[in-house]
Order: sequence, then C-alpha cells, then structure tokens
Amino acid sequence: MKIFETIDQLREELRKYKSGQTLGFVPTMGYLHQGHLSLVEQSKKENDVTVVSIFVNPAQFGPAEDFDSYPREAERDEHLLRKLAVDVVFYPAVKEIYPEGYATYVEVEKLGNVLCGKSRPTHFRGVTTVVLKLLNIVSPTCAYFGRKDAQQAIIIKKMAKDLNLDVVIQAMPIVRDPDGLALSSRNVYLSPEEREAALSLSRALKKAKTEIEQGLRDASAIKEFIQKEISKYPLVTIDYIEVVTLDALDKTNTITLDNTLVAGAIWVGKTRLIDNFTLGEI
Ligand code: PAF
Repeated sequence: MKIFETIDQLREELRKYKSGQTLGFVPTMGYLHQGHLSLVEQSKKENDVTVVSIFVNPAQFGPAEDFDSYPREAERDEHLLRKLAVDVVFYPAVKEIYPEGYATYVEVEKLGNVLCGKSRPTHFRGVTTVVLKLLNIVSPTCAYFGRKDAQQAIIIKKMAKDLNLDVVIQAMPIVRDPDGLALSSRNVYLSPEEREAALSLSRALKKAKTEIEQGLRDASAIKEFIQKEISKYPLVTIDYIEVVTLDALDKTNTITLDNTLVAGAIWVGKTRLIDNFTLGEI
C-alpha cells in the first residue's frame, strides 16, 4: 500500500495504472469503521485498483462545529487499509487541498438547502467542493459513498450528472452495530447513556418502516410516529425528522414505495447523529 500526501505524487503514481484498468475511489474523513471498510471491500471487488482518501475537510464544518475535535487516528486507519490490501492512500494536508488564496466552491442548488442543509447551511457546499476536487485529482472509474449520508449521496450524484463527470457514483447500504445504531465516526463521542439514547433514532425508523410495510402511507403520520418514539428518550433533542421524495428531496404527503426518503437527525448531548431509510434506489 502506497501513501501519498501531495497531489503531484499521487497523480504520478496513478498514471501508472491508467491503461484500461478500472479505478475505485473511496473518499473518507478517516477514523475508519466498518461502514467505510464495506465501501473499500466493494471497490476492491469491482475494480482493478482501489484508492482511499483520508481528509478531514474544513470546508464542510460550520464555525461552531467539531472540525478541531473530529476524531483522527492515522496509524489505526493505515493498519485497517493495509489489512484490506488497498493499493493507494491519499492523505493530504489542508494546505494541499486549499492552498492560500483558494476561492472556488461548487454548490448543488436546492438539494443542499433542505434536511441537514437547513441546520448546516454551508455543509454540502463544502462536501461537493472537496468531492469534485478529489474526483478531479483521482479520476476514478467508480466512487463509493454510504447511504447513511443519503442526502450527500443524492447531491453528489446530481453534481456528477449536472457537470458531466465521467464517474459512476455508487451509494452503498448503511452498516449498523448489532443493536441497530448506524456506524458513524462521531459515535465515539457518546457516553454509554448517550449511546443508549442514540438508539432511539434507528429504533424509531425501524418501527416506522414496519408501519409503512403494513400499509401506512401518510407522511405526516409517519413523521409524528417517529417523533413520538424518539421523545421517549429524554437525552435526545430532535433536529429534524422528514419524509421527502428520494429524487428531488421535496416534501411529500404520500409515501411511495419507490421514491421516498425518511430521514432524521438528532442531538444526543453535544453529538449530532443522522440516520434514514429509503424506499427506492438512490
Ligand atoms: O462522507 C464523508 O466522510 C465526507 O463527507 C466526504 C464524502 C469524505 C467528503 O469530505
């Protein structure tokens, strides 16, 4: 496994692979868990070469958010990626991606203003900017994202389509702990009591999915159902619970089985966690 910190070195290495070989790319912010590793495994399965980037992207954190305290453990990440026989790791410093005087940002209109974009107004602009830069640097055949960040995957797909990027964007299933908690690097912030409370979201979503499977189609009823379930946990504050269309993220009154995203974000103490389920394909 080769690790590169500069764009020039990485590009020089990747030039060696280009002739007819497929290249899978997994962008991450590090502190890897099984969710990230499942993306790496998928990339390994589908491509000749797999590149993983580790970059905690300051542009996607708001001024009062956890950029400084975001968990970082380079050695552990490196060990995990070596075990999976990843070919190349890109591990740039902030200055490499955003040199002095950096001024260009990419924004996907509308899709970035709802759900998480409402509570984190500059977040998706930061995500799309860094992802476009990384896609330009790596030039992969296929790039892999997790469906826990469903809105992110939808926005990145839209960006790729609108900007005619020559890459296939894959949105892979959410990976959960055995008790149902969606894996997130931020789960490390949770105390044992908070972790128990954090389960409220995945539990409520699971019950809501069952309600839909049993025939409930009223979006407001599902929202209220989820809110009520979560309110049983006093340590939790709801940021949002929304039922939207999967393709346009528009609010909807009626749940359809092929175009619905039921998504939520909660605060447990100082930790903000998200989870969702989708009916239909991203
Ligand atoms: O999902 C993430 O970890 C990040 O948003 C991403 C896609 C690596 C961009 O920084």
